[in-house]
Order: sequence, then structure tokens, then C-alpha cells
Amino acid sequence: MEEVKQKKKVILSGIQPTGIFTLGNYIGAVKNWAPMQDEYNCAYMLADLHAITVRQDPKAFREQTMTCYALLLACGLDPEKSIIFIQSHVPAHAELGWILECYTQFGELSRMTQFKDKSAKHADNVNAGLFTYPSLMAADILLYQADLVPVGADQRQHLELTRDIATRFNGIYGNVFKIPEGFIPKAGAKIMSLAEPTKKMSKSDENPNACISILDKPEVIIKKFKRAVTDSEAEVCYRDGKDGINNLMTIYSTVTGKTFDEITAEFAGHGYGDFKLAVGEAVAEHLRPIREVFDRLMADKAYLESCYRKGAEMASRISARTMDKVKKKIGFVL
Ligand code: TYM
Repeated sequence: MEEVKQKKKVILSGIQPTGIFTLGNYIGAVKNWAPMQDEYNCAYMLADLHAITVRQDPKAFREQTMTCYALLLACGLDPEKSIIFIQSHVPAHAELGWILECYTQFGELSRMTQFKDKSAKHADNVNAGLFTYPSLMAADILLYQADLVPVGADQRQHLELTRDIATRFNGIYGNVFKIPEGFIPKAGAKIMSLAEPTKKMSKSDENPNACISILDKPEVIIKKFKRAVTDSEAEVCYRDGKDGINNLMTIYSTVTGKTFDEITAEFAGHGYGDFKLAVGEAVAEHLRPIREVFDRLMADKAYLESCYRKGAEMASRISARTMDKVKKKIGFVL
């Protein structure tokens, strides 16, 4: 039994605890994490070290991190099956992050679109951490010798850089790191804003109608979908240029399991109003159990704490093995 367990592939992924997860975070990433827990050895973390690349209010940040931890469990992550931890509880992340910065080129980091976007958005705080963020993300992944990294499409460039850093390091020192693969879902890897469907759905959007939070109340969810921007046609079908409808079809398909053809058939002869209402209702219904479990978990802080302490211990143990190897290879005195 133990031997079989050893052979399972390793999964690592993370999310920043900067607010309630959006429907984009959920469909592109978190929703896909729970079903992987039986087939793989999974480690999932709240990337709080990454979150401070943007200024956080200490009290709100601490509360949000607890909230996000409860949300991970409410979304089906099981501390009995997976390692579910908070990044800053495992110092090896910052340690390997620094080391890998010394194996990452300035030019590589300069090309990262997320750095360009975030530095434009936070022009008054273009800090060094924002710039070296991808080296820390590489450390997160490589510490656990992850085979697969389930993320949305916006993380693809960071994953490619992780592979480049690992390959470079292995090229110098031998086989230290497993070269990880991205695991990007075919549908839903990029959920778009409901207000501007050519833009990614994002927590930081100033327009409250652009983004669904997974704890939004059913009536709020339905109202936001009713207001979703579509086009001037009246045909529910997936086609180039129909960004709003394509986005709604993708969302409806991922929460109901229906194919695009089935959705088109279901709404043939109906206006967009009926379709938007159906998407809103399906999403609200899909998220209902998450909200319920979340409320229960938030009432039991002691349980949450026992879970993240246990997660940190397990993560520390695994990451220490990689750190030892790295330090030896580099030539640090141990
Ligand atoms: P973060 O916190 O921005 O997002 C968490 C996950 O949600 C996905 N995502 C989306 N997917 C589809 N549509 C959207 N509109 C959408 N918005 C966000 C992201 O792709 C991501 O998978 N750097 C990471 C966190 C991180 C990490 C890691 C991930 C730190 N270390 C190691 C994997 C492995 C981030 O900022 O994700």
C-alpha cells in the first residue's frame, strides 16, 4: 500500500489570500483541485508571501488568510488527504526563493506580463518582490518536486519560467529538481469579466458587477449575471467575437457539465435574458454548498488552526529534503 502511495504523482498549487476567491479563481483553479486528491499526492497553499508584493492592511490580511483557508476546505480540499498550508509557515519557500533569484536572469523577469501589468497598476510601489515574484513561485513548486501544477491560463508564463530555472539549475548541478508540467483546464482556464468580457475576471476590478465572488449571495449572483455584457445578436452559440456569450457558455458548461452543443440546443429560440438567468441560477446553486460549509468552518477557528499547523509540519518535512539537496549541491557548509 505504502509503495503504491509513493508512486503517486505530486501536485502543488497555490492562491493568494488577497480576498474572497472569484468565480475565475474557482473555475480556473480551485474547483479542479479537490478531484485530484485521490489520484495524486497534493499540496495546496495560500501564497501569503506573494500577496505582500502589493501593500496589505495587517488586520484585514490576517483575517482574509483565515477566511481563504476556510474557503479552500469548503471547496473540497481535505486535510486528511492533502497538505493544505500557509506559505509563510514554511520558511524554506523564502529561502529557496532567494537562492533561485540567483539563477534567474533580469531579462527573464522583465518579460513577465504579470509584472508589467501589476507595476502599471501599482505605479507607486514597484517593489523588488513584485519583480522577483516568479522566482519565489518557482521555489514553491520545486521544493515539493511537483509533477503537475494545476493553474489558470494567466500562470502559464510563470510556469514556463519555473521550468527554465529548474532546467538551468539541473544543468549546473545534476538532477536536483523535477521539471513540472502545467495542468491548465481545457475549459475555464480564463474566465472573463462580466462587464468587459475581453478582460480577465479579477478580484481587483473596480466595477462590482464585473466579478462574482464565490461567497456572493444567490440574489447578488443572479443580478450580476442578468447585467452581464453580451452582444447585439440573439443566438446562444460559441463563436469568435461573441466574447460575452462565450464566457457565459463556458461558465454554464463548467458548473452544469453540459457541452456547448447541448447549451445551444437548450436555448434555441430563447433570448439572452433567459440564458443569463439560467447561468446565474446554476452558478448560485453550484456555490450554495460551499457557502454553507464555509459558514460552519468559520465558526470553528480551533479546527482551522489545527489543520494549518498540521499542513505546515508536513510541508516543512517534505521541503527540507529538497533544501538539503540544494544546499549540498551549491556548496554551502552544512
Ligand atoms: P492567483 O491568486 O492570482 O490566482 C489563483 C488561481 O486562479 C487562477 N485564476 C483564474 N483562472 C481562470 N480565470 C480567471 N479569471 C482567473 N483568475 C485567476 C490563476 O491562474 C491561479 O491558478 N502566482 C499565483 C499563486 C501561486 C502559485 C504558486 C500557483 C504562488 N505560488 C505555485 C501555483 C504554483 C497567483 O497569483 O494566483
